[in-house]
Amino acid sequence: MNQSSLHKFIISTKKSNKKHVDYETYFDLRLATNISLIQSLYFSLYPESKHYNDFEKLISQLRELFKSRPEDLKKQDLDKLLEGNWYTSEKLVGMQLYVDHFNKDLNGLADKLDYFENLGINFLHLMPITTRPKAENDGGYAVNSYTEVDKKYGTKQDLLKLTEKLRAKKMTLMLDFVVNHTSDEFSWAKKAAKGETKYQNYYYTFSNREIPDAFEDSLPEVFPETAPGNFTYNQEMQKWVMTVFNSYQWDLNYTNPEVFIEMLKNLVALANQGVDVVRFDALAFLWKKIGTNSQNLPEAHALISLFRMCLQVVAPGVIILAEAIVAPTEILKYFGENNLEGNECEVAYNATLMALLWDSVATSKTELLIKTLKNVPQKPKDATWINYIRCHDDIGLGFDDKDIYQLGLDAKLHRWFLLDYYCQKLEWSPAKGALFMYNPKNGDGRITGSAASLLGLEDALEKNDALLIDNAIKKIKMMHAIILSYGGIPLIYAGDEIATLNDYSYENDDSKKDDSRWLNRPNQNWEVIHTLDKKATPQSQVFNAIKQLIAIRKSTSVFADFNNIKLNQHSNPHLLIFERYSENQKILVLCNFDKEDHFISENWFHEIDFDLNSTCIDLITNQPITLAEATLKICSYGVYWILKNN
Ligand code: GLC
Repeated sequence: MNQSSLHKFIISTKKSNKKHVDYETYFDLRLATNISLIQSLYFSLYPESKHYNDFEKLISQLRELFKSRPEDLKKQDLDKLLEGNWYTSEKLVGMQLYVDHFNKDLNGLADKLDYFENLGINFLHLMPITTRPKAENDGGYAVNSYTEVDKKYGTKQDLLKLTEKLRAKKMTLMLDFVVNHTSDEFSWAKKAAKGETKYQNYYYTFSNREIPDAFEDSLPEVFPETAPGNFTYNQEMQKWVMTVFNSYQWDLNYTNPEVFIEMLKNLVALANQGVDVVRFDALAFLWKKIGTNSQNLPEAHALISLFRMCLQVVAPGVIILAEAIVAPTEILKYFGENNLEGNECEVAYNATLMALLWDSVATSKTELLIKTLKNVPQKPKDATWINYIRCHDDIGLGFDDKDIYQLGLDAKLHRWFLLDYYCQKLEWSPAKGALFMYNPKNGDGRITGSAASLLGLEDALEKNDALLIDNAIKKIKMMHAIILSYGGIPLIYAGDEIATLNDYSYENDDSKKDDSRWLNRPNQNWEVIHTLDKKATPQSQVFNAIKQLIAIRKSTSVFADFNNIKLNQHSNPHLLIFERYSENQKILVLCNFDKEDHFISENWFHEIDFDLNSTCIDLITNQPITLAEATLKICSYGVYWILKNN
């Protein structure tokens, strides 16, 4: 039982006795429930002998922070606690977007809420909207402030108006908490540069190269092309500062407990604006240690859990998404392990599924996908995934070499093939993507491109080839059908629902041209949207298909996530087949990653205990399943959602 279930238990026994809700009493109960865990996490990072007083400060700070929480959010917190794992519901369907690329600013976005409602979207991830440096700013991930809205998006009032509207419509909002670093223009960084020791200790700053060199021996490079190395010399400060991402993103030094408290205040201030899900950006990097790669360290997990346990006391309705795009088994650890199980992050990106779906598209085979997914241990039952086919970042190939070798493939050659396939090095490949952060030293690289372009639509339209266009549309539908049925919150990237192609305009913008991820961050095309129901185009076909899939998902309770998924392996290497089940329903999801049709014998369904009978229907076409000569045909790039009532 995790802490949040304990809170639910306590309030459900108490609430029935009382008419008047005394929020402070509930706060005290939560504090009492979490304090011993907070204490052990805190002292594991900041030894008691030195930091006893700091711990006392933290506990009294929690009460102050609770006082700062608006009353309507305190009420919502209790409702959410009582509801339990609201984030595992089949009713949630998300969209990720850049506010300025979507419809100008926050007010523009508020004007488009009916677009989301029409499509069925009720969970929004808005990319960073706070102040940032004018020049390069990593799409706002270099933060000048955690709460001040950048003028180009509007004002704080606009944000509050938007969050109020979203709450009224029961829509969920996710915003980023860039927890690992600030920009070099953040007030702490400026004071550090001016020589204030207190703020130099908020970052990793060094007068000479001795410690930086020791770190460099084992630290990998995140952006090797544009930001090689992990330290930047600051002339004004006359010191080296750790900058694991870009040179203008300074890593926060969490070995200093003051940094933790200050960042907790920033976290609560963010949550108090009406944010339901906080995306902990780059959280794998939070703790640094010489001699390690400074990623996924146990101390980072303790720190995240400490943030989580404190936030739960102050704002229990708010949950945390782990942005950990790391090896499959490492991702799971962000849900919390052992006594921290269920007490770290509630949600994590299913980066394994994402990356391997692209592997399956390129190879037309699903063996590596299935093998890897089967090897990943089950996640805790209170945790869920964000399932996505792509986001604003690159597609990394971070799956396990061992699994590739076991399939008889050479891991390096296999990755090179994938880069070639997606980045226009193979004549026959329909994909039109670009390389991101290619490292000639080791041949590593990542992939960018919009979903539609990577799935062949751009190439097909250029060639004006009806068959290729049709194949691309089918692939786009299939990929979305997978993330909408897999178990977790599907997160669609704005524009993918209308098959938006690559946006090459970044090449002419000095602040963007060195970052090819801008290729897949297009503006929302409202002209196309206005014509969607007027004519049949690839865009309207994709839009209507995705809208229909969303509607089916939301009305099919077995799509809720309670670890009710079973992967089925078929000897045909082109198929992905998994089952979602509950006490009274089963759904079999069948996908064909090949350009040829394939056939499955009736017997096989018998073997997996999913006998096809006359009551089975395909939810997507709403037609009964028909067999020919005791086999089921699954068309090229086809998908079934076969429903069977028990
Ligand atoms: C995360 C973001 C990415 C950003 C990085 C540094 O990985 O998704 O866009 O560059 O963090 O903040």
